[in-house]
Amino acid sequence: MTTYPVNMDIKPSVQAFFDEATNTISYIVKDPSSNACAIVDSVMDIDYAAGRITYDHADALIREIETQGLKLEWIIETHVHADHLSAAPYIQQRLGGKIGIGSKILVVQDTFGKVFNEGTEFQRDGSQFDRLFEDGDTYTIGNMQAFAMYTPGHTPACMVHVMGDAAFVGDTLFMPDGGSARADFPGGDAGVLYDSIQKVLALPDEMRLFMCHDYGPDGRDIQWETTVGEEKAHNIHVGGGKTKEEFVKFRTERDAQLDMPKLIIPSLQVNMRAGEIPTDKDGKPMLKVPVNGL
Ligand SMILES: [Fe+2]
Repeated sequence: MTTYPVNMDIKPSVQAFFDEATNTISYIVKDPSSNACAIVDSVMDIDYAAGRITYDHADALIREIETQGLKLEWIIETHVHADHLSAAPYIQQRLGGKIGIGSKILVVQDTFGKVFNEGTEFQRDGSQFDRLFEDGDTYTIGNMQAFAMYTPGHTPACMVHVMGDAAFVGDTLFMPDGGSARADFPGGDAGVLYDSIQKVLALPDEMRLFMCHDYGPDGRDIQWETTVGEEKAHNIHVGGGKTKEEFVKFRTERDAQLDMPKLIIPSLQVNMRAGEIPTDKDGKPMLKVPVNGL
Protein backbone atom coordinates (compact mmCIF):
# COMPACT_ATOMS: atom_id res chain seq x y z
CA MET A 1 0.00 0.00 0.00
CA THR A 2 1.19 3.48 -0.86
CA THR A 3 2.34 5.65 2.04
CA TYR A 4 1.27 9.23 1.65
CA PRO A 5 3.25 12.32 2.80
CA VAL A 6 0.63 13.65 5.23
CA ASN A 7 1.56 16.91 6.98
CA MET A 8 -1.13 18.12 9.38
CA ASP A 9 0.99 21.13 10.46
CA ILE A 10 0.23 22.99 7.23
CA LYS A 11 -3.22 24.55 7.43
CA PRO A 12 -4.29 26.15 4.15
CA SER A 13 -7.20 28.58 4.07
CA VAL A 14 -10.10 27.14 2.12
CA GLN A 15 -12.86 29.23 0.56
CA ALA A 16 -15.96 27.43 -0.69
CA PHE A 17 -18.23 28.53 -3.55
CA PHE A 18 -21.54 26.68 -3.71
CA ASP A 19 -23.24 26.27 -7.10
CA GLU A 20 -26.98 26.04 -6.54
CA ALA A 21 -27.78 24.76 -10.03
CA THR A 22 -25.73 21.56 -9.60
CA ASN A 23 -25.15 21.36 -5.81
CA THR A 24 -21.41 21.45 -6.49
CA ILE A 25 -18.87 23.12 -4.21
CA SER A 26 -15.77 24.69 -5.82
CA TYR A 27 -12.80 25.66 -3.68
CA ILE A 28 -9.96 28.16 -3.61
CA VAL A 29 -7.17 26.73 -1.46
CA LYS A 30 -4.39 29.12 -0.38
CA ASP A 31 -0.90 28.22 0.77
CA PRO A 32 -0.54 29.78 4.27
CA SER A 33 3.06 30.88 3.62
CA SER A 34 2.76 32.48 0.16
CA ASN A 35 0.28 34.00 -2.30
CA ALA A 36 -0.07 30.77 -4.23
CA CYS A 37 -3.42 29.03 -4.52
CA ALA A 38 -5.26 26.21 -6.27
CA ILE A 39 -8.83 25.80 -7.47
CA VAL A 40 -10.55 22.47 -6.94
CA ASP A 41 -13.53 21.47 -9.14
CA SER A 42 -14.71 24.62 -10.90
CA VAL A 43 -18.14 24.90 -12.56
CA MET A 44 -19.22 26.31 -15.92
CA ASP A 45 -22.89 27.36 -16.05
CA ILE A 46 -25.11 25.72 -18.65
CA ASP A 47 -28.73 26.16 -19.64
CA TYR A 48 -28.91 22.79 -21.38
CA ALA A 49 -32.42 23.31 -22.78
CA ALA A 50 -31.19 26.44 -24.56
CA GLY A 51 -27.67 25.14 -25.31
CA ARG A 52 -26.32 28.23 -23.56
CA ILE A 53 -23.02 28.43 -21.66
CA THR A 54 -22.16 31.24 -19.21
CA TYR A 55 -19.49 31.81 -16.58
CA ASP A 56 -20.99 33.50 -13.51
CA HIS A 57 -19.75 30.83 -11.09
CA ALA A 58 -16.23 30.76 -12.55
CA ASP A 59 -16.11 34.57 -12.65
CA ALA A 60 -16.77 34.67 -8.88
CA LEU A 61 -13.67 32.50 -8.31
CA ILE A 62 -11.59 34.60 -10.68
CA ARG A 63 -12.70 37.84 -8.98
CA GLU A 64 -11.81 36.48 -5.57
CA ILE A 65 -8.32 35.43 -6.68
CA GLU A 66 -7.73 38.81 -8.33
CA THR A 67 -9.06 40.77 -5.33
CA GLN A 68 -6.75 38.92 -2.96
CA GLY A 69 -3.83 39.21 -5.38
CA LEU A 70 -3.26 35.44 -5.42
CA LYS A 71 -1.30 33.44 -7.95
CA LEU A 72 -3.25 30.48 -9.33
CA GLU A 73 -0.89 27.53 -9.75
CA TRP A 74 -3.24 24.56 -10.11
CA ILE A 75 -6.75 23.86 -11.42
CA ILE A 76 -7.56 20.42 -10.02
CA GLU A 77 -10.31 18.10 -11.20
CA THR A 78 -11.04 15.36 -8.66
CA HIS A 79 -12.62 13.33 -11.50
CA VAL A 80 -14.59 13.52 -14.76
CA HIS A 81 -17.83 14.87 -13.31
CA ALA A 82 -21.13 13.62 -14.71
CA ASP A 83 -23.35 16.28 -13.18
CA HIS A 84 -21.69 19.60 -14.01
CA LEU A 85 -19.30 21.07 -16.56
CA SER A 86 -15.78 22.15 -15.62
CA ALA A 87 -14.69 25.75 -16.28
CA ALA A 88 -10.98 24.86 -16.10
CA PRO A 89 -9.90 26.20 -19.54
CA TYR A 90 -11.86 29.44 -19.07
CA ILE A 91 -10.13 30.04 -15.74
CA GLN A 92 -6.73 28.99 -17.08
CA GLN A 93 -7.01 31.49 -19.94
CA ARG A 94 -7.56 34.31 -17.46
CA LEU A 95 -5.31 33.35 -14.56
CA GLY A 96 -2.89 30.66 -15.79
CA GLY A 97 -2.23 27.56 -13.71
CA LYS A 98 -1.96 23.88 -14.67
CA ILE A 99 -5.00 21.63 -15.11
CA GLY A 100 -4.53 18.27 -13.38
CA ILE A 101 -6.57 15.04 -13.12
CA GLY A 102 -5.94 11.36 -12.35
CA SER A 103 -3.99 9.34 -14.93
CA LYS A 104 -6.89 6.90 -15.30
CA ILE A 105 -8.58 9.64 -17.37
CA LEU A 106 -7.34 7.51 -20.30
CA VAL A 107 -9.81 4.79 -19.29
CA VAL A 108 -12.63 7.33 -19.08
CA GLN A 109 -11.70 8.85 -22.44
CA ASP A 110 -11.66 5.41 -24.05
CA THR A 111 -15.07 4.45 -22.58
CA PHE A 112 -16.86 7.68 -23.46
CA GLY A 113 -14.98 8.18 -26.72
CA LYS A 114 -16.86 5.06 -27.81
CA VAL A 115 -20.20 6.11 -26.25
CA PHE A 116 -20.08 9.45 -28.09
CA ASN A 117 -18.63 7.88 -31.23
CA GLU A 118 -15.77 10.38 -31.29
CA GLY A 119 -13.46 10.46 -34.27
CA THR A 120 -9.67 10.18 -34.21
CA GLU A 121 -9.36 13.93 -33.54
CA PHE A 122 -10.46 13.17 -29.97
CA GLN A 123 -7.18 12.17 -28.31
CA ARG A 124 -7.57 9.43 -25.69
CA ASP A 125 -4.14 10.04 -24.15
CA GLY A 126 -5.01 12.68 -21.54
CA SER A 127 -3.11 15.32 -23.53
CA GLN A 128 -5.91 17.85 -22.95
CA PHE A 129 -4.64 18.09 -19.34
CA ASP A 130 -1.32 19.56 -18.16
CA ARG A 131 -0.67 16.90 -15.53
CA LEU A 132 -1.89 13.34 -15.02
CA PHE A 133 -1.49 12.23 -11.40
CA GLU A 134 -0.53 8.73 -10.30
CA ASP A 135 -1.32 7.41 -6.83
CA GLY A 136 0.87 9.21 -4.29
CA ASP A 137 2.17 11.86 -6.73
CA THR A 138 3.12 15.13 -5.05
CA TYR A 139 3.02 18.70 -6.34
CA THR A 140 3.46 22.12 -4.76
CA ILE A 141 1.18 25.12 -4.30
CA GLY A 142 3.66 27.84 -3.37
CA ASN A 143 5.59 26.28 -0.46
CA MET A 144 2.86 23.80 0.40
CA GLN A 145 3.22 20.21 -0.70
CA ALA A 146 0.05 18.52 -1.92
CA PHE A 147 -0.52 14.93 -3.01
CA ALA A 148 -3.08 12.87 -4.91
CA MET A 149 -4.58 9.60 -3.64
CA TYR A 150 -6.04 7.18 -6.14
CA THR A 151 -9.66 6.52 -5.06
CA PRO A 152 -11.61 4.77 -7.85
CA GLY A 153 -15.10 3.31 -7.52
CA HIS A 154 -17.40 6.22 -8.36
CA THR A 155 -15.42 6.54 -11.62
CA PRO A 156 -12.09 4.95 -12.66
CA ALA A 157 -10.19 8.28 -12.59
CA CYS A 158 -11.28 9.57 -9.16
CA MET A 159 -8.58 11.01 -6.90
CA VAL A 160 -8.66 12.66 -3.50
CA HIS A 161 -6.30 15.65 -3.26
CA VAL A 162 -4.68 16.38 0.10
CA MET A 163 -3.21 19.83 0.80
CA GLY A 164 -1.82 20.08 4.35
CA ASP A 165 -4.63 19.26 6.77
CA ALA A 166 -7.34 19.64 4.10
CA ALA A 167 -8.50 16.82 1.81
CA PHE A 168 -10.76 17.34 -1.21
CA VAL A 169 -12.67 14.11 -1.49
CA GLY A 170 -14.48 14.61 -4.80
CA ASP A 171 -17.29 12.08 -4.93
CA THR A 172 -15.79 9.35 -2.74
CA LEU A 173 -17.76 10.58 0.29
CA PHE A 174 -20.62 12.93 1.06
CA MET A 175 -21.30 14.56 4.44
CA PRO A 176 -21.93 11.96 7.19
CA ASP A 177 -25.72 12.21 6.73
CA GLY A 178 -25.35 12.05 2.91
CA GLY A 179 -23.29 8.85 2.78
CA SER A 180 -21.50 8.14 -0.49
CA ALA A 181 -21.81 8.74 -4.24
CA ARG A 182 -23.23 6.25 -6.73
CA ALA A 183 -20.98 3.59 -8.20
CA ASP A 184 -22.99 2.54 -11.27
CA PHE A 185 -21.51 4.71 -14.03
CA PRO A 186 -19.42 2.88 -16.66
CA GLY A 187 -16.20 1.86 -14.89
CA GLY A 188 -17.76 2.38 -11.44
CA ASP A 189 -17.71 -0.40 -8.80
CA ALA A 190 -19.24 -0.38 -5.32
CA GLY A 191 -16.65 -2.74 -3.81
CA VAL A 192 -13.79 -0.68 -5.23
CA LEU A 193 -15.45 2.48 -3.88
CA TYR A 194 -15.63 0.92 -0.41
CA ASP A 195 -11.89 0.18 -0.50
CA SER A 196 -11.14 3.74 -1.67
CA ILE A 197 -13.25 5.19 1.15
CA GLN A 198 -11.22 3.13 3.63
CA LYS A 199 -8.07 4.85 2.30
CA VAL A 200 -9.64 8.25 3.03
CA LEU A 201 -10.75 7.10 6.49
CA ALA A 202 -7.17 5.96 7.21
CA LEU A 203 -6.03 9.62 7.12
CA PRO A 204 -5.68 11.33 10.55
CA ASP A 205 -8.98 11.83 12.42
CA GLU A 206 -8.46 15.63 12.49
CA MET A 207 -8.00 15.89 8.70
CA ARG A 208 -10.54 18.38 7.34
CA LEU A 209 -12.61 16.88 4.52
CA PHE A 210 -14.21 19.04 1.84
CA MET A 211 -17.06 17.64 -0.22
CA CYS A 212 -17.63 18.17 -3.95
CA HIS A 213 -21.41 17.92 -3.48
CA ASP A 214 -24.09 18.36 -0.87
CA TYR A 215 -27.83 18.01 -1.33
CA GLY A 216 -28.99 19.02 2.16
CA PRO A 217 -30.65 15.72 3.12
CA ASP A 218 -33.95 16.03 5.01
CA GLY A 219 -34.03 19.77 4.42
CA ARG A 220 -30.91 20.69 6.41
CA ASP A 221 -28.80 23.66 5.28
CA ILE A 222 -26.07 22.94 2.73
CA GLN A 223 -22.75 21.87 4.33
CA TRP A 224 -19.43 20.87 2.81
CA GLU A 225 -16.88 20.44 5.57
CA THR A 226 -16.38 17.59 8.03
CA THR A 227 -13.45 15.50 9.34
CA VAL A 228 -12.18 11.97 8.96
CA GLY A 229 -13.16 11.29 12.59
CA GLU A 230 -16.75 12.42 11.98
CA GLU A 231 -17.10 10.33 8.82
CA LYS A 232 -15.65 7.26 10.53
CA ALA A 233 -18.09 7.52 13.40
CA HIS A 234 -21.25 8.73 11.67
CA ASN A 235 -21.27 8.28 7.89
CA ILE A 236 -24.59 6.56 7.18
CA HIS A 237 -23.14 4.32 4.44
CA VAL A 238 -19.69 3.43 5.75
CA GLY A 239 -19.39 4.75 9.32
CA GLY A 240 -19.48 2.73 12.53
CA GLY A 241 -17.53 -0.12 10.95
CA LYS A 242 -19.98 -1.15 8.21
CA THR A 243 -18.63 -4.11 6.25
CA LYS A 244 -17.83 -4.18 2.55
CA GLU A 245 -20.63 -6.70 1.97
CA GLU A 246 -23.20 -4.46 3.66
CA PHE A 247 -22.01 -1.46 1.66
CA VAL A 248 -21.98 -3.22 -1.72
CA LYS A 249 -25.48 -4.63 -1.20
CA PHE A 250 -26.88 -1.28 -0.13
CA ARG A 251 -25.07 0.75 -2.83
CA THR A 252 -26.07 -1.62 -5.65
CA GLU A 253 -29.75 -1.65 -4.65
CA ARG A 254 -29.82 2.11 -4.25
CA ASP A 255 -28.03 2.84 -7.55
CA ALA A 256 -30.55 0.71 -9.46
CA GLN A 257 -33.24 3.21 -8.46
CA LEU A 258 -31.38 6.43 -9.38
CA ASP A 259 -32.10 8.44 -12.52
CA MET A 260 -29.20 9.63 -14.66
CA PRO A 261 -27.90 13.07 -13.63
CA LYS A 262 -29.64 15.80 -15.68
CA LEU A 263 -26.39 17.07 -17.17
CA ILE A 264 -24.56 13.77 -17.75
CA ILE A 265 -24.62 14.04 -21.58
CA PRO A 266 -23.02 17.49 -21.88
CA SER A 267 -20.85 17.00 -18.76
CA LEU A 268 -19.03 13.90 -20.01
CA GLN A 269 -18.36 15.34 -23.47
CA VAL A 270 -16.90 18.53 -22.03
CA ASN A 271 -15.12 17.15 -18.95
CA MET A 272 -13.33 14.31 -20.76
CA ARG A 273 -11.78 17.17 -22.81
CA ALA A 274 -10.59 18.98 -19.65
CA GLY A 275 -13.52 21.41 -19.92
CA GLU A 276 -13.23 22.25 -23.64
CA ILE A 277 -16.49 22.26 -25.59
CA PRO A 278 -16.28 19.87 -28.56
CA THR A 279 -16.59 21.30 -32.07
CA ASP A 280 -18.15 19.94 -35.25
CA LYS A 281 -16.39 19.54 -38.62
CA ASP A 282 -16.72 23.27 -39.25
CA GLY A 283 -15.23 24.19 -35.90
CA LYS A 284 -18.56 25.19 -34.31
CA PRO A 285 -19.09 24.33 -30.62
CA MET A 286 -21.53 21.42 -30.65
CA LEU A 287 -22.76 18.68 -28.28
CA LYS A 288 -24.15 15.25 -29.18
CA VAL A 289 -26.85 13.05 -27.65
CA PRO A 290 -26.14 9.33 -28.16
CA VAL A 291 -29.53 7.58 -28.42
CA ASN A 292 -29.77 4.63 -26.02
CA GLY A 293 -25.99 4.84 -25.72
CA LEU A 294 -25.58 5.31 -21.97
FE1 LIG B 1 -19.00 12.81 -9.71
